[in-house]
Amino acid sequence: MADVRPESLKRITTKAQADQFIDEQIKAIKEQVGDKKVLLALSGGVDSSVVAALLIKAIGTNLVCVHVNHGLLRKGEPEMVCKVFRDELGANLIYVDAVDRFLDLLAGVTDPEQKRHIIGEEFIKVFAEEAAKLDGIAFLAQGTIYPDILESEQGIKAHHNVGGLPPELDFELVEPVKYLYKDEVRVVGSALGLPGKMVYRQPFPGPGLGVRCPGAITRDRLEAVRESDAILREEFEKAGLADKVWQYFTVVPDFKSTGIKDGKRAFEWLCIVRAINTTDVVKCTVEPIDYDLMCHITERITHEVPGINRVLYDYTPKPTATVELE
Ligand code: XMP
Repeated sequence: MADVRPESLKRITTKAQADQFIDEQIKAIKEQVGDKKVLLALSGGVDSSVVAALLIKAIGTNLVCVHVNHGLLRKGEPEMVCKVFRDELGANLIYVDAVDRFLDLLAGVTDPEQKRHIIGEEFIKVFAEEAAKLDGIAFLAQGTIYPDILESEQGIKAHHNVGGLPPELDFELVEPVKYLYKDEVRVVGSALGLPGKMVYRQPFPGPGLGVRCPGAITRDRLEAVRESDAILREEFEKAGLADKVWQYFTVVPDFKSTGIKDGKRAFEWLCIVRAINTTDVVKCTVEPIDYDLMCHITERITHEVPGINRVLYDYTPKPTATVELE
């Protein structure tokens, strides 16, 4: 039978509605799990973060969060997850540094789909290994939201969501936000006191920076993606674009061009900046970035990020391009 959003659930747009939803869910979670333990893969994305915050309110340290750092996260993200959940919310959080594991497996792999596959598979393995070390887990919490249910019923979404979890983890599911749309999840997250940076963050693909480092991933080029992305985010924030533009990021392909640095020939990578707007991600338009802002971003990236001597702006809408380059 189709899993349909109950008619009694009114659209959540205000803090009062979010508070009521939170109270109801806390009650429902307590009833469902009792004093048993629940496991959650906490990526730091909006949905898993909101589920974590809800469960912490309901069952405290009986929620065990596992944050896998696969080395493909944005600058500061693993630190933010640990700070918000472990330090501020007192979560029972297991941080797994799997950076070497992922990067070793990805070394020399150039095919985008193979990269995605390796990242997804390895994520499941690491998570299952952590689960196997724990005693008494009875439930698995997931940040499923209503569009996930609709899209999987329509057969649209398969590759999205590295968080899609191991079939061998045969636990009963706890999915407190499964009837909510993204905007409602954000309102609930804010009402739960999560930082705006976490709740209103732009979409970020499961395979992370791995698909923004086209060609075989190397540690130095990955670092160039991470640093240039951090500069772009900082500048968009300052320019008031961070909440206005739907998705923006940098890409550093495995390609070098000739340039000049300190009066000497510099044969270095180029960095592509992409900023797009959309409502459905099926079609996207390009954000017309102000010329002076783009010059400033170019100046910063070419002078602050080792290995980059040139910045390009991608003017291609979807279609013909896709959002990501890989
Ligand atoms: P494309 O490149 O298909 O991207 O136009 C559409 C949206 O999906 C995101 N994206 C992914 N998300 N796993 C994900 O979880 C993936 O493999 C993946 N590939 C693309 C992309 O960032 C954009 O928001």
